[in-house]
Amino acid sequence: MKVMVTGGGGFIGSHVVDMLVSAGYRVSVVDDLSTGRFENINPRVNFYRVKIEGDDFGRVVERERPDAVIHHAAQVDVTCSLQEPLKDAGINILGTLNLLENCRRYRVGKVIYASSAAVYGSPAYLPVDEAHPVAPQSHYGVSKHTVEHYLRIYQEIYGLRYTVLRYSNVFGPRQDAAGEGGVVAIFIDRLLKGKRVRIFGDGRQTRDFIYAGDVACANLAALKRGDGKILNVSTGISLSVKDLFQLLKGLTGSSMEPEYCPPRPGDILHSCLANHRAREVLGWSPRCAVEEGLRQTLDYYYNHGPALKTGVPGGAH
Ligand SMILES: NC(=O)c1ccc[n+]([C@@H]2O[C@H](COP(=O)([O-])OP(=O)(O)OC[C@H]3O[C@@H](n4cnc5c(N)ncnc54)[C@H](O)[C@@H]3O)[C@@H](O)[C@H]2O)c1
Repeated sequence: MKVMVTGGGGFIGSHVVDMLVSAGYRVSVVDDLSTGRFENINPRVNFYRVKIEGDDFGRVVERERPDAVIHHAAQVDVTCSLQEPLKDAGINILGTLNLLENCRRYRVGKVIYASSAAVYGSPAYLPVDEAHPVAPQSHYGVSKHTVEHYLRIYQEIYGLRYTVLRYSNVFGPRQDAAGEGGVVAIFIDRLLKGKRVRIFGDGRQTRDFIYAGDVACANLAALKRGDGKILNVSTGISLSVKDLFQLLKGLTGSSMEPEYCPPRPGDILHSCLANHRAREVLGWSPRCAVEEGLRQTLDYYYNHGPALKTGVPGGAH
């Protein structure tokens, strides 16, 4: 089976690619390397440095003729989406529409789409299940959600099958601090550089941190199951930012205390996604406990040095 991964040079996409290659799939990667890295790209794939919104993308699909496309390429920065909404929509909405048109044209069987907890906005109840109202609080959340509608329509009209995976906060090796939910990467970066970690608010805000390897497993499962479904991909477990810091402090042997800063306006206090539907539909469950995931992430940064390209101050997304 031939699978194309867009954003396969990025954080999550590269984990998906590695798992596909290990499982024996024939893999191609489309990535413009705007936030991704060439070093992340598995050497056993056909790599195309192409933008999803450009004409070249269609030529790549025509040449590769994948059976499925796993779509991770995106503008992933929430703040950037608010500052540059046209850029965000140009990549996340129009770029994805270009992708869907080419999938239709070249008879791709299925699209798996990396969506986000950001589509829900501020939770009305916890844990947030897929029936929770959708009310994004950023242009990024709007652009991620808009694609979910297009996918449904492409399946209904053209028979292009899809699965939407709504991720909670993903963490793991190769994460950059600039993206969504980069708090783990930011904390690790500062701890390894001997800088004080900044926590916005009292640190009791909670997030649902899922390991990138578990997210990759959900994508592979969705190649065979979950057609027409929207599924949360999460642990269903809340961890406070304060406790996250303590875990990392223990693992790194740091003696530094965090600096508490005023809460940032607009930050969601608690976020946790129920994963029952993904367990049932995909026959998938998260396997990596947060401590183990943090250990593996730290190993990566110890071996590769500070992997962060940006100096975004610490905080919780
Ligand atoms: N990291 C998280 O916690 C999280 C949570 C929810 C959803 N997501 C979604 O998962 C996906 C991957 O996110 P990530 O955290 O790995 O971010 P990332 O920035 O590491 O990956 C995105 C990749 O897309 C590429 N890209 C960006 N614009 C492109 C374009 N126009 N054409 C081709 N390639 C382009 C980048 O170079 C990068 O390699 C995104 O769709 C994001 O919205 C991430």
